[in-house]
Amino acid sequence: MGRPWYVGYFEGRDWLRNIDYTQEDIKKVLEAAWDLKRKFKSRIPTPYLKGRTLFMLFYNRSLRTRNSFEAGIHQLGGHAHFLSPDDVYTPTLPEDMVPYQTEAISDVARVLSRYGDAIAIRIYGDPAKWIIGRGHRIVEEFAKWATVPVLNMEDDLYHPFQALADIMTALEVMPKIRGKKFVVSYAYSGGLKPLAVPQSVALIAAMFGADVVIAHPPGFELMDDIIKKVKELADQYGGSLTITNNMEEAFEGAHFVYPKAWSPKKFFPPFNSTVDKEGAKAYQSKFKNWIVTMDLLEKAGKPYYMHCGPADRGQEVTDEVLDKYEKSLYFEEAENRLHVQKAVMAMVMGSKYEEYE
Ligand code: CP
Repeated sequence: MGRPWYVGYFEGRDWLRNIDYTQEDIKKVLEAAWDLKRKFKSRIPTPYLKGRTLFMLFYNRSLRTRNSFEAGIHQLGGHAHFLSPDDVYTPTLPEDMVPYQTEAISDVARVLSRYGDAIAIRIYGDPAKWIIGRGHRIVEEFAKWATVPVLNMEDDLYHPFQALADIMTALEVMPKIRGKKFVVSYAYSGGLKPLAVPQSVALIAAMFGADVVIAHPPGFELMDDIIKKVKELADQYGGSLTITNNMEEAFEGAHFVYPKAWSPKKFFPPFNSTVDKEGAKAYQSKFKNWIVTMDLLEKAGKPYYMHCGPADRGQEVTDEVLDKYEKSLYFEEAENRLHVQKAVMAMVMGSKYEEYE
Protein backbone atom coordinates (compact mmCIF):
# COMPACT_ATOMS: atom_id res chain seq x y z
CA MET A 1 0.00 0.00 0.00
CA GLY A 2 1.39 3.41 -0.93
CA ARG A 3 1.85 6.15 1.59
CA PRO A 4 -0.14 9.30 0.73
CA TRP A 5 1.86 12.54 0.55
CA TYR A 6 0.32 13.96 3.71
CA VAL A 7 1.47 11.27 6.17
CA GLY A 8 4.23 12.91 8.23
CA TYR A 9 3.87 16.19 6.27
CA PHE A 10 4.07 18.18 9.55
CA GLU A 11 5.84 15.42 11.47
CA GLY A 12 6.31 16.18 15.16
CA ARG A 13 4.55 19.56 15.17
CA ASP A 14 1.93 20.70 17.69
CA TRP A 15 -1.53 21.90 16.64
CA LEU A 16 -2.57 24.53 19.18
CA ARG A 17 -3.93 27.31 16.95
CA ASN A 18 -4.61 27.47 13.22
CA ILE A 19 -2.84 30.84 13.05
CA ASP A 20 0.44 29.04 13.79
CA TYR A 21 0.07 27.76 10.21
CA THR A 22 -0.26 29.54 6.86
CA GLN A 23 -3.26 29.55 4.55
CA GLU A 24 -1.29 27.21 2.27
CA ASP A 25 -0.74 24.81 5.19
CA ILE A 26 -4.46 24.82 6.02
CA LYS A 27 -5.29 24.10 2.37
CA LYS A 28 -2.97 21.06 2.58
CA VAL A 29 -4.88 19.85 5.66
CA LEU A 30 -8.16 20.21 3.78
CA GLU A 31 -6.77 18.35 0.77
CA ALA A 32 -5.74 15.51 3.08
CA ALA A 33 -9.12 15.62 4.84
CA TRP A 34 -10.99 15.31 1.55
CA ASP A 35 -8.83 12.32 0.58
CA LEU A 36 -9.53 10.66 3.93
CA LYS A 37 -13.25 11.48 3.66
CA ARG A 38 -13.44 9.84 0.23
CA LYS A 39 -11.60 6.76 1.52
CA PHE A 40 -13.83 6.60 4.62
CA LYS A 41 -16.98 6.68 2.46
CA SER A 42 -15.56 4.01 0.14
CA ARG A 43 -14.31 1.89 3.05
CA ILE A 44 -10.75 2.03 1.73
CA PRO A 45 -8.34 1.13 4.59
CA THR A 46 -6.12 3.96 5.86
CA PRO A 47 -3.65 2.35 8.32
CA TYR A 48 -1.27 5.30 8.28
CA LEU A 49 -0.85 5.44 12.07
CA LYS A 50 -0.64 1.71 12.75
CA GLY A 51 0.42 1.10 16.35
CA ARG A 52 0.34 4.80 17.29
CA THR A 53 -1.25 5.99 20.55
CA LEU A 54 -3.13 9.23 21.16
CA PHE A 55 -3.64 10.29 24.79
CA MET A 56 -6.83 12.35 25.16
CA LEU A 57 -7.12 14.38 28.35
CA PHE A 58 -10.57 15.89 28.82
CA TYR A 59 -11.08 18.36 31.67
CA ASN A 60 -14.54 19.09 30.14
CA ARG A 61 -17.41 17.12 28.62
CA SER A 62 -17.57 16.29 24.92
CA LEU A 63 -19.59 14.35 22.37
CA ARG A 64 -18.14 15.36 18.99
CA THR A 65 -14.51 15.95 19.91
CA ARG A 66 -14.00 12.81 21.94
CA ASN A 67 -15.76 10.48 19.55
CA SER A 68 -14.34 11.94 16.35
CA PHE A 69 -10.76 11.78 17.69
CA GLU A 70 -11.26 8.30 19.09
CA ALA A 71 -12.93 6.92 15.97
CA GLY A 72 -10.43 8.79 13.81
CA ILE A 73 -7.27 7.35 15.33
CA HIS A 74 -8.83 3.88 15.25
CA GLN A 75 -9.61 4.28 11.54
CA LEU A 76 -5.96 5.25 11.00
CA GLY A 77 -4.79 2.01 12.62
CA GLY A 78 -3.87 3.49 16.01
CA HIS A 79 -5.71 3.74 19.29
CA ALA A 80 -6.79 6.33 21.84
CA HIS A 81 -6.42 6.43 25.60
CA PHE A 82 -9.12 8.51 27.30
CA LEU A 83 -7.84 10.26 30.43
CA SER A 84 -10.06 11.98 32.93
CA PRO A 85 -8.18 14.45 35.16
CA ASP A 86 -9.84 12.85 38.20
CA ASP A 87 -8.56 9.36 37.37
CA VAL A 88 -4.92 10.42 37.21
CA TYR A 89 -3.12 12.86 39.51
CA THR A 90 -4.69 15.96 38.05
CA PRO A 91 -2.17 17.60 35.68
CA THR A 92 -1.72 21.07 37.16
CA LEU A 93 0.25 24.29 36.84
CA PRO A 94 3.02 24.89 39.45
CA GLU A 95 0.99 27.41 41.52
CA ASP A 96 -1.87 24.94 42.14
CA MET A 97 -0.08 21.80 43.23
CA VAL A 98 -1.63 19.63 46.01
CA PRO A 99 0.54 16.74 47.25
CA TYR A 100 -0.53 13.35 45.92
CA GLN A 101 -3.65 14.78 44.23
CA THR A 102 -2.05 16.71 41.40
CA GLU A 103 0.99 16.20 39.22
CA ALA A 104 3.01 18.86 37.42
CA ILE A 105 2.08 19.21 33.76
CA SER A 106 5.80 19.27 33.02
CA ASP A 107 6.06 15.73 34.41
CA VAL A 108 2.78 14.39 32.99
CA ALA A 109 3.71 15.62 29.52
CA ARG A 110 7.13 13.94 29.66
CA VAL A 111 5.78 10.65 31.06
CA LEU A 112 3.02 10.35 28.44
CA SER A 113 5.55 11.23 25.74
CA ARG A 114 7.44 8.05 26.70
CA TYR A 115 4.31 5.89 26.14
CA GLY A 116 2.70 7.22 23.01
CA ASP A 117 2.73 9.49 20.01
CA ALA A 118 0.58 12.55 20.75
CA ILE A 119 -1.27 14.23 23.63
CA ALA A 120 -4.59 15.97 23.07
CA ILE A 121 -6.15 18.28 25.68
CA ARG A 122 -9.48 20.04 26.28
CA ILE A 123 -9.68 22.64 29.04
CA TYR A 124 -11.81 25.76 29.59
CA GLY A 125 -14.34 27.13 32.07
CA ASP A 126 -14.40 25.67 35.60
CA PRO A 127 -11.27 23.47 35.28
CA ALA A 128 -9.40 26.59 34.08
CA LYS A 129 -10.94 28.52 37.03
CA TRP A 130 -12.65 30.89 34.56
CA ILE A 131 -9.45 32.92 34.34
CA ILE A 132 -9.57 33.80 30.66
CA GLY A 133 -6.41 32.62 28.92
CA ARG A 134 -5.54 30.08 31.61
CA GLY A 135 -6.87 27.11 29.63
CA HIS A 136 -4.67 28.10 26.71
CA ARG A 137 -1.70 28.51 29.05
CA ILE A 138 -2.23 24.93 30.27
CA VAL A 139 -2.26 23.60 26.71
CA GLU A 140 0.91 25.59 26.00
CA GLU A 141 2.53 24.14 29.13
CA PHE A 142 1.88 20.62 27.80
CA ALA A 143 3.38 21.63 24.46
CA LYS A 144 6.43 23.08 26.17
CA TRP A 145 7.29 19.82 27.91
CA ALA A 146 5.95 17.05 25.67
CA THR A 147 8.35 15.50 23.19
CA VAL A 148 5.42 14.33 21.02
CA PRO A 149 2.86 16.57 19.26
CA VAL A 150 0.24 18.27 21.43
CA LEU A 151 -3.23 18.83 19.97
CA ASN A 152 -5.64 21.46 21.27
CA MET A 153 -9.11 19.90 21.55
CA GLU A 154 -10.47 23.31 22.73
CA ASP A 155 -9.20 25.68 25.32
CA ASP A 156 -10.70 28.97 26.50
CA LEU A 157 -9.34 30.94 23.52
CA TYR A 158 -9.07 28.55 20.57
CA HIS A 159 -10.86 25.54 19.09
CA PRO A 160 -8.69 24.92 16.02
CA PHE A 161 -10.19 21.60 14.90
CA GLN A 162 -13.70 23.00 15.01
CA ALA A 163 -12.62 25.88 12.77
CA LEU A 164 -10.89 23.49 10.35
CA ALA A 165 -14.08 21.41 10.09
CA ASP A 166 -16.11 24.58 9.62
CA ILE A 167 -14.01 25.98 6.77
CA MET A 168 -14.01 22.54 5.13
CA THR A 169 -17.82 22.46 5.38
CA ALA A 170 -18.22 26.00 4.05
CA LEU A 171 -15.92 25.27 1.09
CA GLU A 172 -17.93 22.16 0.25
CA VAL A 173 -21.03 24.26 -0.37
CA MET A 174 -19.26 27.38 -1.71
CA PRO A 175 -15.83 26.65 -3.19
CA LYS A 176 -14.70 30.29 -2.95
CA ILE A 177 -15.17 32.04 0.39
CA ARG A 178 -13.27 35.18 -0.55
CA GLY A 179 -15.62 38.18 -0.62
CA LYS A 180 -18.51 36.21 0.86
CA LYS A 181 -20.33 37.61 3.89
CA PHE A 182 -19.57 35.34 6.84
CA VAL A 183 -21.32 36.32 10.07
CA VAL A 184 -20.05 35.14 13.45
CA SER A 185 -22.83 36.09 15.83
CA TYR A 186 -23.68 35.79 19.48
CA ALA A 187 -26.82 33.75 20.26
CA TYR A 188 -28.32 33.38 23.72
CA SER A 189 -27.70 30.41 26.02
CA GLY A 190 -28.42 29.95 29.72
CA GLY A 191 -25.02 28.23 30.01
CA LEU A 192 -21.56 29.76 30.07
CA LYS A 193 -19.55 28.99 26.96
CA PRO A 194 -15.97 29.97 26.10
CA LEU A 195 -14.71 32.39 23.45
CA ALA A 196 -12.86 29.63 21.62
CA VAL A 197 -15.28 28.91 18.77
CA PRO A 198 -16.25 32.43 17.68
CA GLN A 199 -12.61 33.50 17.84
CA SER A 200 -11.31 30.52 15.88
CA VAL A 201 -14.08 30.72 13.28
CA ALA A 202 -13.59 34.46 12.72
CA LEU A 203 -9.85 33.87 12.29
CA ILE A 204 -10.20 31.09 9.75
CA ALA A 205 -12.93 32.87 7.77
CA ALA A 206 -10.60 35.90 7.53
CA MET A 207 -7.74 33.62 6.50
CA PHE A 208 -9.87 32.55 3.53
CA GLY A 209 -10.69 36.15 2.55
CA ALA A 210 -14.29 36.32 3.77
CA ASP A 211 -16.04 39.57 4.59
CA VAL A 212 -16.27 38.74 8.28
CA VAL A 213 -19.03 40.33 10.34
CA ILE A 214 -18.94 39.85 14.12
CA ALA A 215 -22.28 40.57 15.81
CA HIS A 216 -22.89 40.61 19.55
CA PRO A 217 -24.61 42.64 22.25
CA PRO A 218 -22.46 45.17 24.15
CA GLY A 219 -20.23 43.39 26.68
CA PHE A 220 -19.60 40.31 24.50
CA GLU A 221 -16.53 41.68 22.73
CA LEU A 222 -13.96 39.10 21.60
CA MET A 223 -10.33 39.46 22.76
CA ASP A 224 -8.58 42.57 21.40
CA ASP A 225 -5.58 40.67 20.03
CA ILE A 226 -7.88 38.25 18.20
CA ILE A 227 -9.84 41.09 16.60
CA LYS A 228 -6.53 42.67 15.54
CA LYS A 229 -5.45 39.37 13.96
CA VAL A 230 -8.82 38.89 12.20
CA LYS A 231 -8.40 42.38 10.70
CA GLU A 232 -4.81 41.65 9.64
CA LEU A 233 -5.82 38.37 7.97
CA ALA A 234 -8.83 39.98 6.28
CA ASP A 235 -6.55 42.70 4.85
CA GLN A 236 -3.95 40.13 3.77
CA TYR A 237 -6.41 37.82 2.01
CA GLY A 238 -8.78 40.33 0.42
CA GLY A 239 -11.61 40.25 2.93
CA SER A 240 -12.91 42.71 5.50
CA LEU A 241 -14.02 42.96 9.12
CA THR A 242 -17.15 44.66 10.46
CA ILE A 243 -18.36 44.60 14.06
CA THR A 244 -21.98 45.36 14.97
CA ASN A 245 -24.40 45.10 17.90
CA ASN A 246 -27.35 44.25 15.66
CA MET A 247 -28.02 40.59 14.79
CA GLU A 248 -30.75 41.19 12.19
CA GLU A 249 -28.67 43.80 10.36
CA ALA A 250 -25.65 41.47 10.43
CA PHE A 251 -27.63 38.60 8.89
CA GLU A 252 -28.98 40.68 5.99
CA GLY A 253 -27.58 39.31 2.71
CA ALA A 254 -25.15 36.94 4.48
CA HIS A 255 -23.84 33.83 2.74
CA PHE A 256 -23.05 32.09 6.05
CA VAL A 257 -24.27 32.76 9.58
CA TYR A 258 -22.58 31.17 12.60
CA PRO A 259 -24.67 32.21 15.63
CA LYS A 260 -23.63 30.71 18.95
CA ALA A 261 -23.29 31.63 22.60
CA TRP A 262 -20.20 32.83 24.37
CA SER A 263 -19.78 34.47 27.74
CA PRO A 264 -19.36 38.19 28.47
CA LYS A 265 -15.71 38.36 29.47
CA LYS A 266 -16.01 41.38 31.77
CA PHE A 267 -17.35 39.06 34.50
CA PHE A 268 -14.15 37.00 34.63
CA PRO A 269 -10.47 37.58 35.48
CA PRO A 270 -8.33 39.25 34.20
CA PHE A 271 -11.19 41.59 33.21
CA ASN A 272 -12.79 41.38 36.68
CA SER A 273 -11.16 40.93 40.10
CA THR A 274 -13.37 37.89 40.84
CA VAL A 275 -15.16 35.15 38.90
CA ASP A 276 -18.80 36.25 38.70
CA LYS A 277 -20.67 33.41 36.99
CA GLU A 278 -24.06 34.49 38.36
CA GLY A 279 -23.47 38.06 37.18
CA ALA A 280 -22.55 36.77 33.72
CA LYS A 281 -25.70 34.60 33.54
CA ALA A 282 -27.92 37.45 34.71
CA TYR A 283 -26.37 39.76 32.11
CA GLN A 284 -26.76 37.15 29.36
CA SER A 285 -30.44 36.71 30.19
CA LYS A 286 -31.12 40.22 28.86
CA PHE A 287 -30.36 38.93 25.36
CA LYS A 288 -32.80 36.04 24.96
CA ASN A 289 -34.02 37.67 21.75
CA TRP A 290 -30.67 36.72 20.15
CA ILE A 291 -32.15 33.44 18.89
CA VAL A 292 -32.03 32.07 15.35
CA THR A 293 -35.47 31.43 13.90
CA MET A 294 -36.70 30.39 10.46
CA ASP A 295 -38.19 33.85 10.07
CA LEU A 296 -34.85 35.56 10.75
CA LEU A 297 -33.06 33.32 8.22
CA GLU A 298 -35.75 33.87 5.57
CA LYS A 299 -35.65 37.64 6.05
CA ALA A 300 -31.85 37.54 5.73
CA GLY A 301 -32.07 35.81 2.32
CA LYS A 302 -31.53 32.20 3.43
CA PRO A 303 -27.85 32.03 4.36
CA TYR A 304 -26.16 28.76 5.27
CA TYR A 305 -26.64 28.12 9.00
CA MET A 306 -23.62 26.91 10.98
CA HIS A 307 -23.05 25.91 14.60
CA CYS A 308 -20.29 23.84 16.20
CA GLY A 309 -22.70 21.90 18.44
CA PRO A 310 -24.04 21.25 20.92
CA ALA A 311 -26.64 23.93 20.07
CA ASP A 312 -29.00 24.91 22.86
CA ARG A 313 -32.45 24.32 21.35
CA GLY A 314 -34.97 27.01 22.23
CA GLN A 315 -32.18 29.37 23.30
CA GLU A 316 -29.50 29.72 20.59
CA VAL A 317 -31.75 28.34 17.84
CA THR A 318 -35.24 26.95 17.33
CA ASP A 319 -35.94 23.24 16.80
CA GLU A 320 -37.39 24.10 13.41
CA VAL A 321 -34.08 25.53 12.15
CA LEU A 322 -32.03 22.58 13.38
CA ASP A 323 -34.47 19.95 12.12
CA LYS A 324 -35.96 21.47 8.97
CA TYR A 325 -33.89 24.34 7.56
CA GLU A 326 -32.59 23.10 4.21
CA LYS A 327 -29.42 25.21 4.41
CA SER A 328 -28.34 24.03 7.86
CA LEU A 329 -24.77 22.63 7.90
CA TYR A 330 -24.99 21.50 11.54
CA PHE A 331 -24.43 17.79 10.95
CA GLU A 332 -21.97 18.31 8.09
CA GLU A 333 -19.74 20.33 10.43
CA ALA A 334 -19.95 17.57 13.05
CA GLU A 335 -18.99 14.97 10.45
CA ASN A 336 -16.07 16.96 9.11
CA ARG A 337 -14.49 17.04 12.56
CA LEU A 338 -13.62 13.39 11.92
CA HIS A 339 -11.96 14.05 8.57
CA VAL A 340 -9.90 17.14 9.51
CA GLN A 341 -8.67 15.54 12.72
CA LYS A 342 -7.62 12.38 10.87
CA ALA A 343 -5.77 14.63 8.41
CA VAL A 344 -3.88 16.50 11.13
CA MET A 345 -3.13 13.33 13.09
CA ALA A 346 -1.73 11.66 9.96
CA MET A 347 0.33 14.78 9.24
CA VAL A 348 1.84 15.32 12.71
CA MET A 349 1.91 11.76 14.10
CA GLY A 350 2.82 9.91 10.90
CA SER A 351 6.24 9.26 9.47
CA LYS A 352 7.39 10.08 5.95
CA TYR A 353 9.62 7.02 5.96
CA GLU A 354 7.23 4.31 7.08
CA GLU A 355 6.01 1.70 4.60
CA TYR A 356 2.72 -0.24 4.95
CA GLU A 357 2.08 -3.91 4.33
N1 CP B 1 -18.13 21.21 18.91
C1 CP B 1 -17.59 20.48 19.90
O1 CP B 1 -16.41 20.63 20.25
O2 CP B 1 -18.44 19.58 20.41
P1 CP B 1 -18.22 18.71 21.74
O3 CP B 1 -18.25 19.65 22.90
O4 CP B 1 -19.37 17.73 21.73
O5 CP B 1 -16.88 18.02 21.64
